[in-house]
Amino acid sequence: MNDSDQIVYLNGEFKAIADACVSVLDRGFLFGDGVYEVIPAYGGNLLRLQSHLQRLQNSLDGIRLKNPMSDQAWAQMLQQLLHKNTGTDQSLYLQVTRGVTGKRDHNFPDKVTPTVFAMSNRLLTLPPAVAEQGIEAVTLDDIRWRACNIKTTALLANTLLQQQATDKGAGESILIRDGKATEGASSNVFAVLNGTIVTPPEGPLLLPGITRDLVLELAREHGMPAQESEITESELRSASEIWMTSSTREIVPVLKLDGRQVGEGKAGPLWHKMIKIYQQYKQQLREGC
Ligand code: PDD
Repeated sequence: MNDSDQIVYLNGEFKAIADACVSVLDRGFLFGDGVYEVIPAYGGNLLRLQSHLQRLQNSLDGIRLKNPMSDQAWAQMLQQLLHKNTGTDQSLYLQVTRGVTGKRDHNFPDKVTPTVFAMSNRLLTLPPAVAEQGIEAVTLDDIRWRACNIKTTALLANTLLQQQATDKGAGESILIRDGKATEGASSNVFAVLNGTIVTPPEGPLLLPGITRDLVLELAREHGMPAQESEITESELRSASEIWMTSSTREIVPVLKLDGRQVGEGKAGPLWHKMIKIYQQYKQQLREGC
């Protein structure tokens, strides 16, 4: 499928991506005044849709915007979008902005209809044998605001941080605030400390990742010690394994941090165990279980 064949959803209609247009007075364009979700779908089955819709609701509440659609309507629209596009595995993107206003004004307009947009892209995930080659990460100062639990489309800080990481030849950044790791520019962080899988606790300083939750849940189910607690910068540097998680990248091992080898410099034993469990979970989802 060419990009031009991509079918997207905009304000109640499915159309070719080239025909989907939004006004320059949309507050998403002017202020980044909107929220979004990214939901992976394996073999036509959406991963943890309910959790994504709950997080969407939390983000909308966080920016004081009424949810324009019921959970049922979201589910129906996303299923339709999946079917209108190709790819065994797809990554669904949806965003809601506050809508089109009469003039640029920081205040929220009284009456405005939110703009709802969704698209689907092929999701090409790496098989474990490739994923184990891992990535390099760099630590960067977490320059973002104090409402990182809201999944807002206002991602300028995240894009600047990602570009800084890329410029240094790294695949992700690990952000540090007040001497502690928060997350990556577009993923959550895990560290293996003294044999325990640790990820920073939820709160305003990081996005409550759906993959993060799933990894914690799978770890506990399979008797792997896991906990949510702060990771200091020095703990991060002494970790035997570091992983980054997200809907599109799944679970990626970090083999080098700031140019120095993490643990033994290869994907560790707990990553290998977790990726196997994660693949099984995905396979069951593909089979509709
Ligand atoms: N990003 N933290 C940040 C800042 C993120 O942007 C993301 C995901 C995550 C992981 O969340 P989840 O496991 O629910 O994907 C954590 C998406 C993929 C993106 O912006 O494209």
